Amino acid sequence: MTMISVRDLRKTFPIKKHAGGFVGSLASLFRSEYEGEFEAVKGISFNIERGEMVGYIGPNGAGKSTTIKMLTGILVPTSGEATVAGMVPWETRKQLALKIGVVFGQRTQLWWDLALIESLELLKYMYRVPDDRFQHNLNTATELLGLEEFLRTPVRQLSLGQRMRGDLTAALLHDPEILYLDEPTIGLDIVAKAAIRDFLSELNRARQTTVLLTTHDLDDIEQLCPRIMVIDHGDVMYDGGLSDLKQRWGGRRQLIVDFASEPDVAISELTNGNLEVISIDGPRATIAFDRDSLSAPEVLSRAGAYGDIRDMSLQEPDIEDVIKRMYAGKIPAGV
Ligand SMILES: Nc1ncnc2c1ncn2[C@@H]1O[C@H](COP(=O)(O)OP(=O)(O)OP(=O)(O)O)[C@@H](O)[C@H]1O
Ligand SMILES: [Mg+2]
Repeated sequence: MTMISVRDLRKTFPIKKHAGGFVGSLASLFRSEYEGEFEAVKGISFNIERGEMVGYIGPNGAGKSTTIKMLTGILVPTSGEATVAGMVPWETRKQLALKIGVVFGQRTQLWWDLALIESLELLKYMYRVPDDRFQHNLNTATELLGLEEFLRTPVRQLSLGQRMRGDLTAALLHDPEILYLDEPTIGLDIVAKAAIRDFLSELNRARQTTVLLTTHDLDDIEQLCPRIMVIDHGDVMYDGGLSDLKQRWGGRRQLIVDFASEPDVAISELTNGNLEVISIDGPRATIAFDRDSLSAPEVLSRAGAYGDIRDMSLQEPDIEDVIKRMYAGKIPAGV
């Protein structure tokens, strides 16, 4: 069952003219002068099925938060279509609010002056959450996220990690079918990140909650999202599995070979189109090679011609590297 369907969704923002000086800024107070528009989201399309956990990643300014805001109904798109839980978000924002949960890591939906538990009780009232569901969800969150020690603390006194756990609990009180998370682990320590990731996996497992997750932490993605969408400059550059991405764009594997003594310098002659001797450091040689054209034993046996091999290790390409190269435009878009 399709939970989120997006067709040619576009959002442009007007670019305001910057008239210089005091008079200019005074003038711009009274007149809106626009010098064009900026296309933050350029006509993207995708479907997300019930129970999927999808990582939505991209560099700063790529259009991730803008997309999420359109899918919650906060922003109206310039053109295109979307349905979320069968509704058009910007036309039925209030009804949709009962079906979705949202966490913007940079903001809070809790009340600064209230204790966390009071904020949660207020939300229970606003969303008309039945007593038994409220108690159940609160108990689960308390158990998995360790809320107990700060439930009675005013929100303004919570640490970032505590506040984020509170926000996550708040977003889930009404048992939403879809959860949007915009950087839910930003600024958190490893323990808090782990608690939140475990909590999300458990939620997805137990309730088949559909999750769209924006993050700059690729560990979040590796641990939670079988599918990722990479967006840059408002376009979807990749939509597929993380393992496929590694397979197709993972670049070269590296073989680190330790010789008994410094290998014959002629080893550098091994370098050709699909193999490169990257460095020779004393008895250690580092050799990068294409996974498609060569196997590790093959490379090892070629290296063996230049010295007595004592040890070796193999390094798989790092997903951070792949994404970095993708952001830098070194991997063709539209895959
Ligand atoms: N209300 C707005 N008015 C004008 N421009 C905007 C507005 N909101 C966003 N933008 C611009 O649209 C682009 C996309 O912004 P968006 O917040 O969606 O990026 P993002 O992918 O969430 O980035 P980040 O990783 O930094 O959170 C940016 O260039 C941003 O400056
Ligand atoms: Mg953002």
